[in-house]
Amino acid sequence: MALQVELIPTGEIIRVVHPHRPCKLALGSDGVRVTMESALTARDRVGVQDFVLLENFTSEAAFMENLRRRFRENLIYTYIGPVLVSVNPYRDLQIYSRQHMERYRGVSFYEVPPHLFAVADTVYRALRTERRDQAVMISGESGAGKTEATKRLLQFYAETCPAPERGGAVRDRLLQSNPVLEAFGNAKTLRNDNSSRFGKYMDVQFDFKGAPVGGHILSYLLEKSRVVHQNHGERNFHIFYQLLEGGEEETLRRLGLERNPQSYLYLVKGQCAKVSSINDKSDWKVVRKALTVIDFTEEEVEELLSIVASVLHLGNIHFAADEESNAQVTTENQIKYLSRLLGVEGATLREALTHRKIIAKGEELLSPLNLEQAAYARDALAKAVYSRTFTWLVGKINRSLASKDAESPSWRSTTVLGLLDIYGFEVFQHNSFEQFCINYCNEKLQQLFIELTLKSEQEEYEAEGIAWEPVQYFNNKIICDLVEEKFKGIISILDEECLRPGEATDLTFLEKLEDTVKQHPHFLTHKLADQRTRKSLGRGEFRLLHYAGEVTYSVTGFLDKNNDLLFRNLKETMCSSKNPIMSQCFDRNELSDKKRPETVATQFKLSLLQLVEILKSKEPAYVRCIKPNDAKQPGRFDEVLIRHQVKYLGLMENLRVRRAGFAYRRKYEVFLQRYKSLCPETWPTWAGRPQDGVAVLVRHLGYKPEEYKMGRTKIFIRFPKTLFATEDALEVRRQSLATKIQAAWRGFHWRQKFLRVKRSAICIQSWWRGTLGRRKAAKRKWAAQTIRRLIRGFILRHAPRCPENAFFLDHVRTSFLLNLRRQLPRNVLDTSWPTPPPALREASELLRELCMKNMVWKYCRSISPEWKQQLQQKAVASEIFKGKKDNYPQSVPRLFISTRLGADEISPKVLQALGSEPIQYAVPVVKYDRKGYKPRSRQLLLTPSAVVIVEDAKVKQRIDYANLTGISVSSLSDSLFVLHVQREDNKQKGDVVLQSDHVIETLTKTALSADRVNHVNINQGSITFAGGPGRDGIIDFTPGSELLITKAKNGHLAVVAPRLNSR
Ligand SMILES: Nc1ncnc2c1ncn2[C@@H]1O[C@H](COP(=O)(O)OP(=O)(O)OP(=O)(O)O)[C@@H](O)[C@H]1O
Ligand SMILES: [Mg+2]
Repeated sequence: MALQVELIPTGEIIRVVHPHRPCKLALGSDGVRVTMESALTARDRVGVQDFVLLENFTSEAAFMENLRRRFRENLIYTYIGPVLVSVNPYRDLQIYSRQHMERYRGVSFYEVPPHLFAVADTVYRALRTERRDQAVMISGESGAGKTEATKRLLQFYAETCPAPERGGAVRDRLLQSNPVLEAFGNAKTLRNDNSSRFGKYMDVQFDFKGAPVGGHILSYLLEKSRVVHQNHGERNFHIFYQLLEGGEEETLRRLGLERNPQSYLYLVKGQCAKVSSINDKSDWKVVRKALTVIDFTEEEVEELLSIVASVLHLGNIHFAADEESNAQVTTENQIKYLSRLLGVEGATLREALTHRKIIAKGEELLSPLNLEQAAYARDALAKAVYSRTFTWLVGKINRSLASKDAESPSWRSTTVLGLLDIYGFEVFQHNSFEQFCINYCNEKLQQLFIELTLKSEQEEYEAEGIAWEPVQYFNNKIICDLVEEKFKGIISILDEECLRPGEATDLTFLEKLEDTVKQHPHFLTHKLADQRTRKSLGRGEFRLLHYAGEVTYSVTGFLDKNNDLLFRNLKETMCSSKNPIMSQCFDRNELSDKKRPETVATQFKLSLLQLVEILKSKEPAYVRCIKPNDAKQPGRFDEVLIRHQVKYLGLMENLRVRRAGFAYRRKYEVFLQRYKSLCPETWPTWAGRPQDGVAVLVRHLGYKPEEYKMGRTKIFIRFPKTLFATEDALEVRRQSLATKIQAAWRGFHWRQKFLRVKRSAICIQSWWRGTLGRRKAAKRKWAAQTIRRLIRGFILRHAPRCPENAFFLDHVRTSFLLNLRRQLPRNVLDTSWPTPPPALREASELLRELCMKNMVWKYCRSISPEWKQQLQQKAVASEIFKGKKDNYPQSVPRLFISTRLGADEISPKVLQALGSEPIQYAVPVVKYDRKGYKPRSRQLLLTPSAVVIVEDAKVKQRIDYANLTGISVSSLSDSLFVLHVQREDNKQKGDVVLQSDHVIETLTKTALSADRVNHVNINQGSITFAGGPGRDGIIDFTPGSELLITKAKNGHLAVVAPRLNSR
């Protein structure tokens, strides 16, 4: 896809992805270019990721627009060179996970989207590689996200740094010190539900392996006035509410507390004990656990909680005036609790709360206090107890964080990473001493910030051999001087007023101020102001024109707060405390020390100076936090509020300094690595020095001499547009390179795959071919051997069995037997049988017999009784007639029928005459008379005992089988036969001459029935028969052409039987 970029008249730049649907890459009325270097997703490319790339870098509107656009996309981080600008999203963006940490580890700062972890990692790497102490300065106004950022940084180091040799206890303590400090030092304010009411600078010590081994915390000016008073909508320090909400019943009982914040006067001033965003109960659990981690013993926890409770009880102490208007304690119960919790004498405490000890001329005098003074003394004690406990707590945490190896030689090789989370610039409707200190602190840090950024910029130019062009910027030294200068500064004047004898009041202090610094351009009071401004200033107020804006301070309480006075007898009482923590907080030496302690402002000034020195000794990194709205709402971008912060954080100033000369600079190696694909000479690799490569590259890109400068190690590009043009070219080039790389890679990938497949195929093929070849060769070898053995065996086949002919002989036998199996005779009539080899002749014969027997047996088993009878009859027929009578062969294929006459064809009378005798066979016959040889149609019936000749319905003749002496028949083809009857039987008429069309069948059945099989005579020529008593008849048979039966002249019956072919 070709990348098209168009510049449209409004100054917007669009990237045309589709001719009809342009996809907007950039917006902005001032032509803000939004593409950033580095391979980022489209979302990451919203706005510029580094303000120095803003074309119109002096325009606050362009700055705000960029910030707004990114914020809308939840991109809360943007750079100004190395400075990270962070906008509080007021929502969990899920950008601090372990994966995010990994993503930012060890990568170049500018190669990934801006992130706090990028700063964290860069700082850590610098610490490790250059072994220089580092400091991350996190600034911004209340609620801007400083503490959150500090916590995220600590979390990053705790999770990504190697664990120290002695286990991870230090890491846990570093992390767990936070909830404890926050419980005691943070409170809900109107600006922030978890506002840090103290400044914090934390050192984390790393050993030479980069593992965190210890830490140290410096705390600054706790806002202790909060202990006794909170503005409406604000709370006291979290710990009070946490204890009341989360503390166990037993603990509360011991401390004499009720589980109700409303019962304590120090907790009701702000009228908002409950806050929806805070869960005091679960926070209490966290704090309790954390205390254990940071080495608190159970006793110490108890002592600490006793102090917390004692502050609450102090708040509930009431006074009443006696007749002389002196204050008297009316709440004895509280005194009792206090005496127990703090380990002091009740009476002493009572007296100390209502009297003041004055030492005049070496004598101690007790002067009673009036109601107001007593309340003041009580509050002063509460504040002192709490603030000193806080200081003690920090000391205790420091002892727990202190590296256990501090004494060992390796300790000297540790490096330190400082995290500064200090209260931001504050402007309220009513600003007091605390705001004065806080804003002074910010003024100091701003001064340091400008100094260091300018310095580093200048140093970079010098190091690169590029001429430094002076940058115009506002130096706030003048304001710092106004506050801190000796004798003439506000703090000095305040101290002086606090110390001087006589009636010093806040107003006398103001007058003195007016006298001393009236000429100062950044100072204003009602008296000094002109007519117009005077209206906005009260008489007890003075105004400072801070670098970040004007702030009007009310002088009320300045002297008191600066003095931080605690009456001597209260101090003495506390010094006698049996509570170990209290006795550490109130040192007896303090009482004997005649020197007046430093005032609060001076202490603060000195600690700030010390802080500045600490920071100066380290390599700085900056996180500038911005609060997007006052409502703590996600997604709301309050233009006015943010513009104000941009101004007082000096971000525009910072940008101007950064952009004074050149908008962009990068090391030659980095620049060349990124853009080398744009020049044929540097792509894909440049063999020479990176600097020369960059020179060739920019010449090829057509950079004009005024657009860039070559430093010693870096190229400096003056205008962002030059860089953007290069970036656009790179974007286009990337597309084509990506396509080429893709194509090459795909080609390579598929070729590799193809080659792999090919190699595999060849491997399989060759293996298979080998296998086939080997099989074939083995088969051939076997065949050759077999043939050879057969031939050899064949030659020796007649020799006695020996190894040479054994195979052949076996083979012949086997093949005969196998062959035989296929060629066995199909039926009993099949006489075929393969010829056996000589050695198997006998076996073959046995087999043949077996086979035949088997077939016969099988046949016999399978035939029906009728068929058996048929065969038996046929066998008898064959026995009688075979080869003896001419027409026998014709009868063979014709089946014998059980009877040739049905029951209906036989007269019932005949049947009746036969009685119970069954008829086994009946056949129509022709009977020839014995005398005239007349043919007469008769029926022949066979019963179990006789042959019966029937004429119609009459039994003409019955021949019992016992009387049947024989049967005669000719050998010719005629069908005449004679039944010979016993001559002695007078009942019989003589032999009977009959003719049947089924002569063979009839005779066989008759012979069988009469058991006269051996009495069937087959005669050649003629048959003699008995024609009646004493008279014989003769039948002559002659062959002829056709059947002719006649009575011959000689009185014989002449039968001419046709000759048949079979004979
Ligand atoms: N990066 C962030 N992501 C999500 N929420 C945040 C982030 N930073 C800050 N917040 C939200 O804003 C609130 C205020 O932040 P934080 O306490 O860090 O402000 P601060 O600058 O320390 O203010 P103060 O000067 O009053 O101590 C946090 O409690 C949290 O709810
Ligand atoms: Mg904070």
